[in-house]
Amino acid sequence: MLEKIKAISESVKNKIADAKGSAELNDLKVKYLGRNGEITALLKGLKNCSPEEKPSLGKHINALREQVERLISEREQILASNELDRKLQEEKIDVTLSVRDSAVGGLHPLTLARNELVDAFVGMGFEVKEGPEIELDFYNFQQLNIPKDHPSRDAQDTFYVDDNIVLRTQTSAVQARTMEKEKPPIRIVCPGKVYRLDDDATHSPMFQQIEGLVVDKGVNLCDLKGTLDEFAKKFFGEDTRTRFRPSYFPFTEPSVELDVSCFMCKGKGCRLCKGTGWIEVLGAGVVNPIVLKNCGIDPAEYSGFAFGIGIERCAMLKYGIPDMRILFENDVRFLRQYR
Ligand code: PHE
Repeated sequence: MLEKIKAISESVKNKIADAKGSAELNDLKVKYLGRNGEITALLKGLKNCSPEEKPSLGKHINALREQVERLISEREQILASNELDRKLQEEKIDVTLSVRDSAVGGLHPLTLARNELVDAFVGMGFEVKEGPEIELDFYNFQQLNIPKDHPSRDAQDTFYVDDNIVLRTQTSAVQARTMEKEKPPIRIVCPGKVYRLDDDATHSPMFQQIEGLVVDKGVNLCDLKGTLDEFAKKFFGEDTRTRFRPSYFPFTEPSVELDVSCFMCKGKGCRLCKGTGWIEVLGAGVVNPIVLKNCGIDPAEYSGFAFGIGIERCAMLKYGIPDMRILFENDVRFLRQYR
C-alpha cells in the first residue's frame, strides 16, 4: 500500500501540471478524489490493514489527499489567470480608431416650420383644429361663398373625387366646419395638407397651409393687422414690419394680402425680395357676412377675420430654400442641414 501511495504521489504532480483546461482538471479530481477515485479507494482499503499499520498509512494517505487537493487548486488558479491574460490580449480596444458617425434623425424643415407657425398662434390663444383632406364641395367651396363659376372650382385647378367630393384646395374648409359646430368666440388655427393642380418650382400639387379664424363680437380689420403683425415678428424676427395690400377672396370682405419687410436685406432690396424690400406671405381678410350666415352665425351680432398661410412658402423664405420640390425629395444631404 505504501508503494501505491508513493506511485500516485509521484505521477499525480505531472498529470495536474499538464492539465490544459478546467475540464481536464476536473477529470483528474474525479480520478483521484471522487467517490470511486484512487485515493478514496486507498482510504477504504485501510480497514483491511493491521491495527499497527493503520495510523501511519492513514497519515500518508491523508497527506497525499491534501497534496492532490492543493496541486489542483493551484493549477486552477494558474489556468484562470492564463484565461484572463488571453482574454485581455484578444479583446484589446484600439482607442485610436476614429469613431463611426451614428445616424441621428431630425425633424423635416416643413415640420419645423409648421411647429413654429402653430406655436406663434397658440401663444396668442389660438386653438388647433384639423379636418378631412378628402372634403365635401359643400365645405371647401359652397359654404365659403365660392360661386359655381369661380376659377378655383375648375377641374383644371381642383382634384375632384366625384361631383360633390374634392381633395380640399384650402384648409379654409375647416373654418366652415368649425363655425357650423361651435358658438363664438372662436379662435382657431387649422394646419394641414391641401391639393391643387399645380406643379413647378414654387407650386406643388400637395402642399400645406395653416388657416386662422377668429369670430367674436366687434372683431375688425385692425385686430387682423395686430395679430398678423405679432405673428410676423415672432416668425421672421423682432424688427419685421408688415403692410397690407388690397386683394380679393370670395370668403373675406375686405380682403388683403400681407407683405413682410424683407428679413434678408432689412428692406433695402435684394434677390429674395426681388429688389422691392417686401415679401408676400399670406392672404387674409374680414370674414364675409355671407359666410357667417351660411355657417349659422348671425353677422349682425358677430364678425371675424381669417388668414391663410402657405407652410412651404414660409419654410422656403425662412430657410432660404430656392425650389419647393427639394422639400419632397427626401434627400438626406439636404434634410441633415436642418437637424
Ligand atoms: N384660403 C386662401 C388660399 O388658399 C387663403 C385665405 C385664407 C385668404 C383665409 C383669406 C382668408 O389662398
